[in-house]
Formats: sequence, structure tokens, C-alpha cells
Amino acid sequence: MSYRKSYSQPNDHFSREIDIEVCLKTLKIYQKLEGDVNCVVWDASLVLAKYLETMSQNKSDFLSGMKVIELGSGLGVVGLTAATLGAQVTLTDLPEALPLLRKNINENKYKISSMGGYAIAEALIWGETSPLFDEKYDMVLLADCVYYEEAVDPLINTLKCLVNNSQDQPIVYLTQELRQTEAQKTMWTSFYDKLSDYFFIKQIPEEEQHVNYKSPDILLLKLSKK
Ligand SMILES: C[S@@+](CC[C@H](N)C(=O)[O-])C[C@H]1O[C@@H](n2cnc3c(N)ncnc32)[C@H](O)[C@@H]1O
Repeated sequence: MSYRKSYSQPNDHFSREIDIEVCLKTLKIYQKLEGDVNCVVWDASLVLAKYLETMSQNKSDFLSGMKVIELGSGLGVVGLTAATLGAQVTLTDLPEALPLLRKNINENKYKISSMGGYAIAEALIWGETSPLFDEKYDMVLLADCVYYEEAVDPLINTLKCLVNNSQDQPIVYLTQELRQTEAQKTMWTSFYDKLSDYFFIKQIPEEEQHVNYKSPDILLLKLSKK
């Protein structure tokens, strides 16, 4: 997977440019040279962002006007792509991730508004209650959020809250890189089993994904409440 990288920033930030071909816009995403998992762009987010783009190419109003929430946004590639494709997006993450996430929203805000979209960032800690649950969403997005055991149950609870509180149940799109350590495999199986108690799960085949942004070790799932 390739995207342009530039080291022109004066501090520990550097930026990447990610093209959204369907609307001829280019997102500028700041990353940090060093930091936690929320300081880099993960491949699973590119697969999901490019899937949204592919879907919008096939159906031009796929995201326009949709109310979307993203969990564990990190640097915001997925949520910012959805917003540039016309959605009203709330990007969420841990409080400490918000400054860089908001910088990325601010950097791209004119591209987003020119497409009729909107993006804000709010804290949402999985497993905790939030005023964000009072809103109704059409779509929930999350990329590469299953990577430590303690988060499995809280993340599922947050997904349940979002789906239960919306009258028209939102569709959830989730990508996950499948890592090969025994601990990661066990954790993914446990997450998937718990998820399937509550959601119908459809795996989106690679041939329906973006022609260049797909990978056998990144799952793309579509969930709807049972
Ligand atoms: C592997 S990163 C993925 C980031 C982004 N979705 C991507 O794919 O580039 C996981 C994200 O989940 C966030 N996260 C981890 N634990 C969380 C929690 N308990 N509540 C909310 N967000 C959490 C991290 O801060 C990080 O941004």
C-alpha cells in the first residue's frame, strides 16, 4: 500500500497525503515520529477508507448526509475520508489522542466542507457511558481496534450501546489486521465469537474492495444487529 510521505514539518510531526480519487481531494494527515498506537496510520484504516471510496464510486450518495461515528479513530483517516465523501462524522478516541486528531480535522476542514461533509472529534472511551450515545447514527466505523485483551468486552459494549440507542439500526463497518501471534489469534476469536452473539456478520470479499487497497490479512466486516 503506498501513499506519499513528507518530512517537511519542523518538529516531530510529518505528514502523509492520501488521495480520495472519487472526488479528486487529497487528505493531509499529520503523524508523529514517535508515540502510541494512535500516532500512525494503520493499514486497516486505509483498507476501510478506500472501501468507503469504492462504495461511493458505485453509489454516489452512499455517504452524503449520513450521520457517522468512528471508534478509535487514531489520526482520522477513515472518519476524514467519510466526511470528505459527504458524511457528518464524529471521530472518537481516548482523550490523549484528540489534539493530533483535531489538528488533522482542522488541516482538512475546507476540503470536507466543500463536499458538504462535516467532522468533529470527541473523547469516547470504550466501555464508558457517553452523551454521544444519545445521538442517532446511520453508520459506525472502526479500523484495527482489536489489539489488546482488556479492550475486547468494553469495545463490544460500546458497539452495543451505539446500535441499541439508534432507532434505525446503524450499519457497522469494521476492518481488522489479523496478527499471527497466538495471543492475538485467541483474542480475535474471542472478539468475533462475542460479536456474533449480537450481530449478523458478513465478510466483504476482496473483489468488492478497492482494487489496490486490500490484503488477505486484513478482514473487512459488515455488521448489523440481530
Ligand atoms: C491500532 S490504533 C488504530 C487507529 C486507527 N483506527 C487506524 O487504523 O489508523 C487503535 C486506536 O484505538 C484507540 N483506543 C485504544 N483503546 C481505546 C479505548 N479503551 N477507548 C477508546 N479508544 C481506544 C487508540 O488510541 C488508537 O487510536
